[in-house]
Amino acid sequence: MQHKKEQLNRAYSVLADIYDDVMVEVDYETWTDYIDEIIYQFHPDAETVLELACGTGTMALSLEELADYRITATDGSVEMIEVAKRKADATFSNVQFLSRNFLDLRLDQTFDVVFMVFDSLNYLHDENDILKLHDEVRKVLNPGGIFIYDFTTPRNSRIAIKYLNNEKRRVNNLYRYHRESRYDAENRIHTNRFTIDKLDNENGNVQETFREEHRQHIYTLPEIESIIKKTDFSILDSFDGFELKPAHRKSLRITMVLQ
Ligand SMILES: C[S@@+](CC[C@H](N)C(=O)[O-])C[C@H]1O[C@@H](n2cnc3c(N)ncnc32)[C@H](O)[C@@H]1O
Repeated sequence: MQHKKEQLNRAYSVLADIYDDVMVEVDYETWTDYIDEIIYQFHPDAETVLELACGTGTMALSLEELADYRITATDGSVEMIEVAKRKADATFSNVQFLSRNFLDLRLDQTFDVVFMVFDSLNYLHDENDILKLHDEVRKVLNPGGIFIYDFTTPRNSRIAIKYLNNEKRRVNNLYRYHRESRYDAENRIHTNRFTIDKLDNENGNVQETFREEHRQHIYTLPEIESIIKKTDFSILDSFDGFELKPAHRKSLRITMVLQ
């Protein structure tokens, strides 16, 4: 008889097991080149790097391959960090992976560069939390250090729901998932709901169904700029997408470089 249970789970808990499959089309190598290019341009002598919200560690591991930094990478999800550590062990990596909320970093080291990519800032829903994040980063940056992060814009959400909504995929013998993606333009909340079925390896029947809801607040460049003005950081640049060209009002993703 088929055994079926349903659960509501924390964001990035069950998804950790299939995150790399869900993101299979993301070109992390090019993205890593881009971050390394920014580091080279704004802090060519950087030696130590901290990645926040590193997920399953793909970018930290890729950066270690690319350049000679000492890298620490943190994420708030214990499950994502477990996957990252397994990947690090398998590749004999020296990246130090730690589970940390980026609003409460508690690190006893300081760094030349702190970076955070792929909409992780959009998980913060109010200005005070964004200010707190900047303050936590300030505490772990060396003098002259830089803070790089991206965020996605309302235009990106309007476009992205067309291809993210109703995505269904079987990722391996053990899982299939369904993503519903909604954008509330009035309140600027982008919600991705994942339904993840764990399958019986032998007969493909659904053993358990998990649900995760990921809510992101979508910001414009003027909003982020006005928040940064209230921090100890100054803006060195704001880039459009994966370019080293200025962000503009049609940018889908904006990368900020702060000092
Ligand atoms: C879209 S994923 C990006 C992961 C990774 N940077 C990548 O490029 O694949 C967002 C990540 O932000 C993390 N995150 C969200 N809120 C966080 C917080 N308060 N502290 C630390 N990590 C957080 C999640 O656990 C998740 O791994």
